[in-house]
Amino acid sequence: MSTVESRPLIGEGISRVDGPRKVTGAAPYPMDFSVPGQAYGTLVQSTIAAGRIVRMHTDEAAHSPGVVTVLTHENALEVGMGPASVLGASPPAPLRNDRIVHHGQHIAFVVAETPEQATAAARLVRADYEAAEPLLDLQDPRAEHLHDPWGMDHSRGDAAAALEGAEVTLRNTYLTADNTNNPLGLFATLAVWDGDTLTVHDTSQWPSMVRTTLAMAFGIPESSVRVLVPYVGGGFGAGLRAWPHVILTAMAARMTKRPVKLVLTRPQMFTSIGHRPSGVQWLSVGIRRDGELVALDHRSLSSLSMEDNDFEPFSSGTAFAYQCPNVITRDEQAKLNIAVPTSMRAPAEAQGNFALESALDELSYTLGIDPVELRVRNHTDVDPRNGLPWSGKAILECYEIGARRFGWSDRNPEPRSMRDGNWLVGYGMASAMFPYFAQPCMAEATVNRDGSAFVRSAATDIGTGTYTVMAQLSAEELGLPLEKVRFDLGDSDMPNSMMAGGSGLTGALGNAVHDACRRLVRSFVELVRNDADSPLMGISPHEVECSGGRVHLMGCPDRGESYVDILARHGMPQLSATGSSTPPDATEIGMSLAGAYGAKFVEVRVDPDLGLVRVARVVSAIDGGRILNEKTARSQIIGGTVGGIGMALLEDTVTDPRTGRIANGTFADYLVAVNADVPELDVVFVGEPDRGTPTGTKGVGEVGLVGIAPAITNAVYHATGRRIRSLPITLDTLL
Ligand code: MOS
Repeated sequence: MSTVESRPLIGEGISRVDGPRKVTGAAPYPMDFSVPGQAYGTLVQSTIAAGRIVRMHTDEAAHSPGVVTVLTHENALEVGMGPASVLGASPPAPLRNDRIVHHGQHIAFVVAETPEQATAAARLVRADYEAAEPLLDLQDPRAEHLHDPWGMDHSRGDAAAALEGAEVTLRNTYLTADNTNNPLGLFATLAVWDGDTLTVHDTSQWPSMVRTTLAMAFGIPESSVRVLVPYVGGGFGAGLRAWPHVILTAMAARMTKRPVKLVLTRPQMFTSIGHRPSGVQWLSVGIRRDGELVALDHRSLSSLSMEDNDFEPFSSGTAFAYQCPNVITRDEQAKLNIAVPTSMRAPAEAQGNFALESALDELSYTLGIDPVELRVRNHTDVDPRNGLPWSGKAILECYEIGARRFGWSDRNPEPRSMRDGNWLVGYGMASAMFPYFAQPCMAEATVNRDGSAFVRSAATDIGTGTYTVMAQLSAEELGLPLEKVRFDLGDSDMPNSMMAGGSGLTGALGNAVHDACRRLVRSFVELVRNDADSPLMGISPHEVECSGGRVHLMGCPDRGESYVDILARHGMPQLSATGSSTPPDATEIGMSLAGAYGAKFVEVRVDPDLGLVRVARVVSAIDGGRILNEKTARSQIIGGTVGGIGMALLEDTVTDPRTGRIANGTFADYLVAVNADVPELDVVFVGEPDRGTPTGTKGVGEVGLVGIAPAITNAVYHATGRRIRSLPITLDTLL
C-alpha cells in the first residue's frame, strides 16, 4: 500500500458519487419510505410553556374519520430512557406525565389512515392546562444553573492576578442568539414492528445511537432494532439525538400493531429537534503593550431546557487557542422553559470564538498592532493545556496565504477610512479552529471475485460527501479504480460507526476504512504466501502494496497478482476484512490531536444611512490536514461560511418573552442567508497531512463556520467605528 506521506495533500475533487441519484430523485430520504398498511402520525403540541395538563379532550379526535388512535400521557406505553445525546443522556421521553416544560412539547400523538385525516383530527385535540409562569430569560436569577457537566473548565496560572497587573485590560460582555438548525429535509420517522423486532427509517446523523435508544426505550435487545438512513436530508447537528418524536412513532406502531410514519412540519422542526442555545459571555483579557497575551478570563452562561442535560462549553476553545500563561474558562447553563437546545454546526466554538476573536480585534486597535500580527504574536505550536506539540497546526500558513489572497495589505487601518461611493468599506479577520473529535469506528471491506469491492459502515452522509470520500479512500487503499468501489452506509446492522458530527467522521471512519483495507490486503497475501503458483509466495504481508487491482511487492508492480486471480484460484466468491479505529491517546503518541484551523478574511459594505450590512468578499484559508476530495471539502467550507453569515446578520430564533412560543418558527419568518446575501466565497486549503492519524485527515465541516461572525463584526467596526458585541447584528445598532 502506498504510504500516507506519498499521497497528495489535496485529493481529487470528483463530483459526488450519489449526485445523480440525488438530482434525479432516486435517492430515498427518510420521508420517502412507505410500507403497505402504514398509518400516519401527527403531533399535538403544548400551547403553554410551563405548568401541567389538567385534562385532555380526545373524544372528538378519536371519532373523527380515519383515526386509529390518539395517544396522550394517560394511555401511552411507559418507555425507558436511552443515552440519546451526543455525550449525555436522553432528552425527556415523550408522554410520561402531565408536566409541561416548554411550548411545543408533544402532548398527544394522533394516528390515522391518511396524513390529512391525522392532521385534521390533531386540531380537535384540546388540553385544559394549569399554567405556571415560565422561566424564559437566560439571566433570570431564579433559573437553576448547571455547571460544567463534562469537566471541561480549565485553569492555569493566576488569571485574576495577571489581569490586575496587566498593562492593558479589556472586559466585555458578548451575546449570541438562539439559532435553529433548519436542515432542508423535514425530519421523518417510519417505524415497523415485526413481533419484537423493530425496523425504523429515521432522519439521523447517528443510526447506532438511535438503535441503542429505541432498544432501551422498549426493553428489547439492540440486535432487535434496525435503523436505516441511506440519505439524511441535512442535519447541522439536529440529527445527533434520538428525539421524543422518534420514540413516539415507534410507540404508536407498537400499540396500534401498524407501521406508523411521521413527518414533522416546518414549524415543528423549530421545537422538536434542537437548536443552537443562546448565550452570554463575559471575557476579560490582559495584554502587554507589545501584544503578548498575559491573561484570559472567559465565562459563559448558555440556555438549557428544563429536563435535559445537553451542554455547550462556549469558552472551552479559549483554553488552547493561543499562547497565554494565565487562563480561566468556566461554562454554566441555565434551565429554562424552552424547547431542547442541542448542537448546531460548530457548537460552542462558534459562540466562544466570536467573543475571543472580537476582543482580540478590539485590542489590535487599542495597541495599534495589525490584527493578523497580533494573532501571530500569540501563536503556539504546543497545546498549552498539556505542553504537547499539536499533531498539525498550519494556522500561520492560513494567515499568510489568506491575507495574500484577500489583499489584506491594501487595508487602511483607520476605521471609517475606506469608502466606495456611499458605502463604508471594512476589512476584518478572525482565526478559526474546530477541536479534534473522534469516537470508535468500524468498517468492513470486501473484494469480490469480479474485482469489484465494497466497504461498509453504519455511518451517515449528511450531505458532506461521506459516500464519495470513503469510496475514494477505499479505492486508493485497495489499489482499485473508483468505479470498481462502492461505499455503503446508513444501516445500523453494518459495522458500528461514530456519529456524523463534531467534524469527526471523515477522520475516524477514514482510519477504520484504512485499517479494514490494510487487513484485507494482508488476508490476500496470507492466502497465497505459501502458494507455489503465486508470484507473491514467501512475501510478508508488510512488504506489499496494491495498484491496478493487483497485490504486489512494494515498488515492484510486476511481482504480484490480481485479486480476481487469487480468488478464482482459491474458488472463493469474495474476501472480507473488518477494521477499526479508536481515538489515539495524546500521551501515548506524544502529540495533542489537532482539529482543523483556519483564517477568515471578510470585506463588508455598510450603508451608514440605512444600517445595511452586505458581505462583499470572504477568503477562508483552511488547514484540514489531508483533504480527501477538494470539491466536497470546499463545499463544506462554503456551506459553513453561509451559516456564519446567517449567524452574524440574520439568524435569530425569537421566543415570545410572555408565552415562550417561538414567534418566527417558519421559513417565512426565520431568516437564513440566501444567494443574495452570499458573495463569491474563496476557499484555499493549506498545511500538511496531520501527523496524529493514519490517513492524515482532519474534519473540515465546522471550521467553515467558525470565525465568520467575528470577521464580519470586526469588518463592520473597521467600516463604521461601531463595535458590535451582540449577534445577529441588527440595523438599529449601526444608525
Ligand atoms: Mo455537527 S453540530 O456536530 O452535526
